[in-house]
Amino acid sequence: MTNYISISEAMKKGSGKVAVRGWVYRERGSNKMKFLVLRDSSDIIQCVLSREKFEMQWPEIDKLKIESSVEIEGVIKKDSRAPTGFEINVDKINIVNISEDYPINKDVNEELLGDRRHLWLRSRKMTASMRIRSTVFFALHEFAHKLGFTEIQAPSMSGAASEGGSEVFEVGYFGKKAYMTQSWQFYAENFISAVEKAYAITPSFRAEKSKTPWHVTEFWHFELEGAWMDLKDDMDVAEKIIIYVIEKVLKENKKELEIVGADIKMLEKVKAGFKRITYEEAIKTLQKKAHKIKSGDDFGSAEERSLAKYYGNNFVFVTNYPMKLLKFYHGEDLSKPGTGTNFNLLAPGVGEMVDGSQREPDLNKIVEKLKKAKIDLGASNWYLDSRRYGSVPHAGFGLGIERFVAWICGFDTIKDAIPFPRTPTRFNP
Ligand code: 4AD
Ligand code: MG
Repeated sequence: MTNYISISEAMKKGSGKVAVRGWVYRERGSNKMKFLVLRDSSDIIQCVLSREKFEMQWPEIDKLKIESSVEIEGVIKKDSRAPTGFEINVDKINIVNISEDYPINKDVNEELLGDRRHLWLRSRKMTASMRIRSTVFFALHEFAHKLGFTEIQAPSMSGAASEGGSEVFEVGYFGKKAYMTQSWQFYAENFISAVEKAYAITPSFRAEKSKTPWHVTEFWHFELEGAWMDLKDDMDVAEKIIIYVIEKVLKENKKELEIVGADIKMLEKVKAGFKRITYEEAIKTLQKKAHKIKSGDDFGSAEERSLAKYYGNNFVFVTNYPMKLLKFYHGEDLSKPGTGTNFNLLAPGVGEMVDGSQREPDLNKIVEKLKKAKIDLGASNWYLDSRRYGSVPHAGFGLGIERFVAWICGFDTIKDAIPFPRTPTRFNP
């Protein structure tokens, strides 16, 4: 049996006989020669076939088009003119499949790329992006375990909305209404009374009409919740995890970072000690920089991005938002009445990347807030058991994984950070 190796392994070997296989990335040729640039998941390499050697197979070889799949054996050598510095002089070729005309080329616009997403994932940029994303998932799992958090999954359909009534997808459930889960948090606030420290990575669904580069209707959410944690602990954990993930990506994905054009120097500069400011300080900073915003207003995403820029183009925690901007589960900071024990972590270029808080532990206060917000107590009743039976101080956060990956890669949209981005206008495949 032929011992196929990856293209990058073949280039590492650098000389002698090799066998590789993959897809035609580019091709050109004449009557006498055929140059195939072959792609596999590891890299690309130029392969040269001479008609003299392949007289019998030439009619088939001549038909090889982009994305045709082939197996190749030959001799590899250095060649500075080849795209990746090496070339294979082919001795044997097995044509596995001759591709139809590939519907993606450099003239295809964004819209068509979206329609052909399943094919666009083969591009070097998307392959690199998905590799980086995979490292991010792995590192999140790894570090959460290192910190002693237990992974616990929650359902993807729930009986009530958690993050907002209008932004929830309703689905039928045997004649009853169910909702696609917006956040794992409500489940977590209950099971931390069992495992104390819990986390999960799950899809979260938001029926948001906003068509910004930073929103999709189904995103992947890293959420974490800990009993006995306060706001400071919460921010400390978020910061540590982010630093760990960045270090891991730098270690594992140098090549992929180069392919996507990431700012590697910027990533290397990320260090512990992210700036922590309050909402009021953030408002003052924005006003000084001539933003039209007053105390009590929510930040727009442009303002969030600007804030990260003003604070040294670095991550910045903003805490203590006015209670009126917060949800019923957010706790109040009794040392700064009227403000919450909450934070948003803002990332340069992206804006909000993590949202967390120390939760309101008191049953009566929550019930009061639910009533004020006209939220159905019936549907939320099970959630309140977390406050009925041995309520303890606790905190947690949610990190949008696509926003994190997009920030690492330097993308200007999270759509390049998820295999199949779902938006209000795109539901395919
Ligand atoms: O700010 P959000 O809505 O907070 C929550 O869901 C909390 N329950 C989390 C928690 O405390 N356990 O969402 C958290 C993060 C945001 O900061 C953002 O990074 C990301 O999830 N996010 C989205 N990412 C992509 N598309 C969307 N439509 C997103 N909505 C939120
Ligand atoms: Mg938020």
